[in-house]
Amino acid sequence: MHDLKTHIEQVLSALKKELLSAQSTADLEQIRVTYLGRQGQIAALMAQLKELSTEDKKTFGPLLNEFKKSAEELYEKTKKTVEQLQSDQDRAKKHAFDVTAYKRPALQGSLHLFTHIIEHLEDIFISMGYEIATGPEVVTDYYNFEALNIPSDHPARELQDTFWLTNPNYLLRTHTSSVQIQAMESKSVPLAIFAPGRVYRNEATDATHDFMFMQGEGLFIDKNVSVSHLLATAKAFLRAYFEKYDLEIRARPGYFPFVEPGIEIDASCPFCKTGCSICKYTRWIELMGSGMVHPNVLRASGINPEIYSGFAWGFGLERLAMVKYGVNDIRLFRSGKIDFLKQF
Ligand code: DAH
Repeated sequence: MHDLKTHIEQVLSALKKELLSAQSTADLEQIRVTYLGRQGQIAALMAQLKELSTEDKKTFGPLLNEFKKSAEELYEKTKKTVEQLQSDQDRAKKHAFDVTAYKRPALQGSLHLFTHIIEHLEDIFISMGYEIATGPEVVTDYYNFEALNIPSDHPARELQDTFWLTNPNYLLRTHTSSVQIQAMESKSVPLAIFAPGRVYRNEATDATHDFMFMQGEGLFIDKNVSVSHLLATAKAFLRAYFEKYDLEIRARPGYFPFVEPGIEIDASCPFCKTGCSICKYTRWIELMGSGMVHPNVLRASGINPEIYSGFAWGFGLERLAMVKYGVNDIRLFRSGKIDFLKQF
């Protein structure tokens, strides 16, 4: 019995010691579980009571109850002190918080210039009644060449250096003109689509060429469509894009197998009246290829060229961006140089 008494005293002194060093409510919770919890040391002592003789129960029963009570009281008292201490500390911390202190600004991302340009162009074309179209970047020979009136023996294939995939029928599209065919197949006429997208060319890069770049493609098909519709559309969209409402356009003959006639469109320099470095002192800037959709192209997509006609155009998005924002190296757009991108 002597043993049990010593044990009680040991537990009590250990508990006191731990309570004295408790710093936080987390420490207290740990102590509560160890001593006062259902599996704790006091519960274990209580369990031992059952083993005792009736005589001893009379002595130790009240002793243990007394012990349990004082342990609980001690715990509650310490808990109050610790909680008070913690709330004082919290208050002191808040008080010491300097709202005017310098905080490093969080790095904030922003949209890439191209996203802004594409959204601007989409708004322009949607306002003209166009639908936005997209197509895959990996296409079959048919969509990139064949259906665009460029058969396999056509010398025009040499105009665009192609990334062919290991499956010889597939390639990375060299132009967004492939979307023209996909749109004609999936939609009905009359048709007006604008398709921005990424294209690939297997060629060396320099300040004006990249192996991957973006194009914007337009296609308009209806009855009685003529070159004047094409020119009016080009003028309206270039004026809106450059936000220059006195901008003029100039049409020159050009060759693209999927249009007849093929027309190169230049814009009057948006930055000068007499010649500047941007227009290389010519007052005109070459901006896009276009033309009246070739009857073979319409026919390949099941549209009767006797009834319908249409125009198409394609431009390089980087070129439009370089001219508008005075960028002199196409590679900068994808260089990941934050200082460059931040400017827009
Ligand atoms: N696909 C041509 C290229 O990548 C651009 C082009 C020219 C698109 C004339 C057209 C067009 O739709 O009619 O160089």
